[in-house]
Amino acid sequence: MKFFVDTAETKDIRELASTGLIDGVTTNPSLIVKSGRDFKEVIAEICEITDGPVSAEVTALETTQMLAEAKELLKIANNIAIKVPLTIDGLKTCKALTDEGHMVNVTLCFSANQALLAAKAGATFISPFIGRLDDLNIDGMELIEDIRTIYDNYGFETEILAASIRNANHVKECALAGADVATIPPAVIKGLANHALTDKGIEAFMKDWATTGQSIL
Ligand code: E4P
Repeated sequence: MKFFVDTAETKDIRELASTGLIDGVTTNPSLIVKSGRDFKEVIAEICEITDGPVSAEVTALETTQMLAEAKELLKIANNIAIKVPLTIDGLKTCKALTDEGHMVNVTLCFSANQALLAAKAGATFISPFIGRLDDLNIDGMELIEDIRTIYDNYGFETEILAASIRNANHVKECALAGADVATIPPAVIKGLANHALTDKGIEAFMKDWATTGQSIL
C-alpha cells in the first residue's frame, strides 16, 4: 500500500520524505488555509520535495471553471494530480483531464456508487473518506471493501486512495481491505512506528550495554 501524506505543511513533508515512506501528498482547501500560505506557492514547494502525485484541489463548482483552474494548477509541475469533488461537473472535468493524460483525484466520495462513477469517468484516484463516515456511525472501512470488490469485478484501474484517516487502526484496516493508497496525517504516520515493547526493549539493551563500558565508534 502506498502512503501519501495528507498535509500542506512542507516541514512535515520534508521530514517524512527523508524516511522514504512517502509516495505522494494530498492537500485540500482547508489544509491550505491551515498552512497560512499562498496556494500555488505551497503546491510548487511540495512538488519539489516529492516526485509522487501531489493533489491540488480546484475550488470552482462548474466544469468550464474547474478546467480553467486545473489548467493553471497543471502549470506548476508535472506531478500535479487535479482534485475534483464527486459531482457531475467534477466527473465531467475528470473525464476531460484524464483523456488529456492528466492525473485526477476524485474526492469527497462517501458511497460505492459514487466510486463506480469516478472509475467510469477514468479517475486516477478515488478518495473515500473513512473518518467522516465513522463520525456518523457509518462503517468507513466497509466502503473501502465494497469499492475494492466492485473495482476488481470489472478490472477498473482507478486506485483506491483511502482518505480522512484518523488513527493507526484505520491504516492497518485499509491495508487489509486492499486500498491501493492511504493518505495519512503526519502525526499518524509517525505514530505507526511506536510500540511500548520496542521502547522497553531499547531501554533494556541500553542498560545492559552501558555495563560493558564499550563503544562501537
Ligand atoms: C483527503 O484528500 C482529504 O484531504 C483528507 O483526508 C480529509 O480528512 P479529514 O476528514 O480528516 O478532514
